[in-house]
Amino acid sequence: MVLTQRLEAFFSSWKTGKRLVVLTAYDATQAAIVEAGGVDLILVGDSLGMAVQGLDSTTAVTLEQMAYHTRMVARGRKALPIVADLPLGSYDDPESAVESSRILISAGADAVKFEGNPPGIARAILASGIPVMGHLGLLPQTAGSFRVFGKTSPEAAALQTDARSLADLGCFSIVLECVPLSLAQRVTQELELPTIGIGAGPFTNGQVLVFHDLLGLLSGHKAKFLPRSYPSVGDLARDVVLHFANDVRSGVYPSDQESYH
Ligand code: KIV
Repeated sequence: MVLTQRLEAFFSSWKTGKRLVVLTAYDATQAAIVEAGGVDLILVGDSLGMAVQGLDSTTAVTLEQMAYHTRMVARGRKALPIVADLPLGSYDDPESAVESSRILISAGADAVKFEGNPPGIARAILASGIPVMGHLGLLPQTAGSFRVFGKTSPEAAALQTDARSLADLGCFSIVLECVPLSLAQRVTQELELPTIGIGAGPFTNGQVLVFHDLLGLLSGHKAKFLPRSYPSVGDLARDVVLHFANDVRSGVYPSDQESYH
C-alpha cells in the first residue's frame, strides 16, 4: 500500500507527536469549513444517513450515495486527505470490497474505511494498493443499538486481536468508537499507527466527530462524549431563520437598500 501525499502529511503529523483532528463532511461547503478550521483529515462517513438523509441508522446508505458525497467533498477541499466509508453491503466479499473501494477512490477519496475485521477484506483492499483505515469498537452498521463496546474481558481481548491484525496487515490508522478509555489507551500503546477515538477517551492519538454533532445542528439526544461548552450553530441558524420570517411578515425586509432601482 502506498499513501497519497495528503495521507503522508497526516501520518507524519502523528509521528511528530501531534494530536490528530478528524471531522466528517458530506459536501463541498462543509469540506471548506472543516479545512479552514485546521483539521488533519476529512471523513466522508456513512453517518450521512442520519446527519443528511434523516434516517435513524447508517444501514440504508448506498455505495452510489457515498461516491456522490465523496465527489462533493473532494471539490470543496484543497489539500486535506479524504477517507470515505464503505457502506453496509459494499464489502461482503474481497472482490466486491476492492471494486467498491475503487469507486470511492475514483470519486476523490485517498483511502477507505470499513467496520470490524471481516475475513480477507482488509488484505484484499490493501493488496489492490488502496489505503485502509480500520474501525473497531461500536460498529454502527451492525450494532443495532448504541452501547459502549469492550467493557467485558472477552470483548476487550477480541478488539485488541482485531486491532493487531488490522495493523499487521498494513492499515494506516484505526478509529476506536465508544470503548472504555483504558482499553483505547492499551490499543494505542500497542500499535504503531495513529488511533482516532470517538467516545474513546483522551488517550487515542486523535479525535473524530460528526460535523453536525460538533456544531449542534441536530436536535435531540446528545451523546456523553460530545463537547458541551461550544456555542450551538443550530440555535444560531434557527434564530436567523426566525428573524428573516419576522422581517418578511412585518415588511421590514426587503428595505429600499436591499432593492434594485
Ligand atoms: O460514519 C461516521 O461518521 C463514522 C465516525 C463516527 C467515525 O464512522
